[in-house]
Amino acid sequence: MKNLRVGLLGVGTVGGGSFEVLWRNQHEITRRAGCEIRITRVADMDLAKAKALVGDRAEVCDDGFSIVNDPDIDVVLELVGGYGVAKSLVLAAIEQGKHVVTANKALLAVHGDEIFAAARKKGVILAYEAAVAGGIPIIKALREGLTANRIEWIAGIINGTTNFILSEMREKGLPFAEVLKQAQALGYAEADPSFDIEGIDAGHKISLLASIAFGIPVQFNRAHIEGITNLQAEDIRYAEQLGYRIKLLGITRRRPEGVELRVHPTLIPAKRLIASVEGAMNAVWVKADAVGHTMYYGKGAGAEPTASAVIADLVDVARAFAVPAGLRVPSLAFQADAVLDTAVLAREHIESAYYVRLRVEDQPGVLADITRILADGGISLDAVLQREPDAGEHQTDVILLTHRCIESAVDQAIAMIEALPTVLSSAVRLRLEDLD
Ligand code: HSE
Repeated sequence: MKNLRVGLLGVGTVGGGSFEVLWRNQHEITRRAGCEIRITRVADMDLAKAKALVGDRAEVCDDGFSIVNDPDIDVVLELVGGYGVAKSLVLAAIEQGKHVVTANKALLAVHGDEIFAAARKKGVILAYEAAVAGGIPIIKALREGLTANRIEWIAGIINGTTNFILSEMREKGLPFAEVLKQAQALGYAEADPSFDIEGIDAGHKISLLASIAFGIPVQFNRAHIEGITNLQAEDIRYAEQLGYRIKLLGITRRRPEGVELRVHPTLIPAKRLIASVEGAMNAVWVKADAVGHTMYYGKGAGAEPTASAVIADLVDVARAFAVPAGLRVPSLAFQADAVLDTAVLAREHIESAYYVRLRVEDQPGVLADITRILADGGISLDAVLQREPDAGEHQTDVILLTHRCIESAVDQAIAMIEALPTVLSSAVRLRLEDLD
């Protein structure tokens, strides 16, 4: 096969890492790909930065569109990020009949349907392994390795920044804001850290995973997303006393009524393997009918881990270059005409177990009133923890763990509990997943 000529757009962390890893491992990669994969042109608004990276190893310019329109480029590697110019560049590259490799989860989560449809129409490959969980080959695992299975659910720690923050808060008892600054200094956080801490980045990623797991359109706009900004240190402590860790999980689950698609802080049993994923590491747990449980662990961000995924996509493009479009692995794992329009369930219809913390008067009958409301709502209790009040204190915290139930039942029960005169503040409600 002829050599693959790649145009790189963007020399940020991932662009720089991809350029260097491809250069360094060129011989090994060529042995695998069957042809040489070469970044021949590089574009970045910051010309000086691009020149410093590339030297005389490629041609440098500041106009991405000149690369997209260049007939001597076979593949456009979009590492600009965001929904703005990146979208125009990707759509223009597809229109020019070029294959596209991207790490841009935000773009694909929000505009994926349009972009995947455009790529299908032009018969070009749109590869995005680096968009989810950085260096972990989770797209390939779901799309190819698990292709025999009916996938039941996925639960992932797919944002390293928030996992780092939660790990540090738990281990060192540090406040949220201080740990966020550390995460930014270490380069984990997105340019806009609200994407990390508000759960949006994880929402982008789990929306893509849901699509390829279940053969449904990318539906980020229907995902229920809660970040970690309101998480309180005392809930991390109480969870630990009860044998749980709190992780920001992206969860998607197939139910007879539809698909759950959600991101939120979640209590998980401390004994589960995924609970021991600490720091900025990522892990994705998949439950499928034939294989059972599988877990994928690794670095979800950083120059070279993400480059590893980007270059794997380039090798896939090289291998599939001469394969007719209809015979390639479908971008979203399922054949386009077999994609189902399954509804994403609204938050009220989520099924989960719950952790509920209440501040209450320390007097007889309080717990009985609360448990009666739960029983009337058909909510079964799994555990109750009451903090020993300090000497002279007349209030205390009560923590309830429920069995699985539908979220609307918990909404109603909490509203009634909060109305009790002995309940002194709003309830803290977190979801709990046993992952069994
Ligand atoms: N900011 C992301 C994270 C990395 O913290 O995991 C890129 O997806």
